[in-house]
Amino acid sequence: MEKEELKKQIKNELKEKDMSMQKLLEIKAAYLGKKGLIPSLMGEMKNLSQEEKPAYGEKVNALKNLAADLFDEKKKEIEEKEIGQKLESEKVDITLPGKEFNTGSIHVLNEVIEEVEDLFIGLGFEVKDGPEIESDRFNFELLNIPKDHPARAMQDTFYINAERLLRTQTSGAQAHTMIEYGGKKDVRIICPGKVYRRDDDDATHSHQFTQIEGLVVNKDVTMADLKGTLLTLARKMFGEDREIRLRPSYFPFTEPSIEVDVSCFKCHGKGCSLCKNTGWIEILGAGMVNNNVLDMCGYDSKVYQGYAFGMGVERIAMLKYGIDDIRLFYMNDKRFIEQFK
Ligand code: PHE
Repeated sequence: MEKEELKKQIKNELKEKDMSMQKLLEIKAAYLGKKGLIPSLMGEMKNLSQEEKPAYGEKVNALKNLAADLFDEKKKEIEEKEIGQKLESEKVDITLPGKEFNTGSIHVLNEVIEEVEDLFIGLGFEVKDGPEIESDRFNFELLNIPKDHPARAMQDTFYINAERLLRTQTSGAQAHTMIEYGGKKDVRIICPGKVYRRDDDDATHSHQFTQIEGLVVNKDVTMADLKGTLLTLARKMFGEDREIRLRPSYFPFTEPSIEVDVSCFKCHGKGCSLCKNTGWIEILGAGMVNNNVLDMCGYDSKVYQGYAFGMGVERIAMLKYGIDDIRLFYMNDKRFIEQFK
């Protein structure tokens, strides 16, 4: 068989355009496989004379190489086509806009709580939890607010029955912790949590809101410690150059009691609408723990003293982020929530 003849024959067999790899291998086997054409040509060598053998061998070898080349060529062609098809079917259009995933995030109130917790943990405070369904005793009596006390009117209460209520303040944590500590151990806690009051909801009132109570009791704490702590707090929440101002006030469970203002972070004290032109913004209530409270909760008021403070988390968040309606915190409007991601 001549080279040209073989070439024509193989090319003819391989001319199919969309030949599969399987089919190619079958055809290849018919030529180059053990029982294929070329090895059988090689096998005829034994019938030749010694002189004819070299030339014949050389010729069949050339045929073999030619056939191998032709099959390789087709193999490559099929492989390239397969890659092309794969690329086509797996094509990614990188110009398409990506899918947006909805991820959750920390609610702004929790963010403020965490910020305050971080600060106080750094100052050696422990974070305590208290019950939202509270007894009259812990919410009022042990905090120096007996049944007929006018201060009860300050906090309109949701009663469950005569003894059980939804706590109106996190201050119950004071009594819980002092009683738990048995009147001996120093106290250094903050207690964040939900509180409830019978208010009509509007832009600045909500029947449920959030407070953080702080309490320190030991043998030598003074109001100077309270002031330093609150200054640190005010600066952490509202900026390093803030000042605070203490004004006398009244709470049944502290004596003396104070209300604490922070210098306005919007106008820096010059006077603006946020601070109602006073340069100061009220942020929380505080005071030295009333001796009656210490004694009722098992701490000898002749030996121990303490300070307490309580703040509204919503108020802090509203001031910090310029939010003008407290109801926004609870409406789960994604447009509001997502601003604090
Ligand atoms: N419990 C007080 C309130 O709800 C705030 C407060 C806490 C004041 C601790 C003084 C000390 O208004």
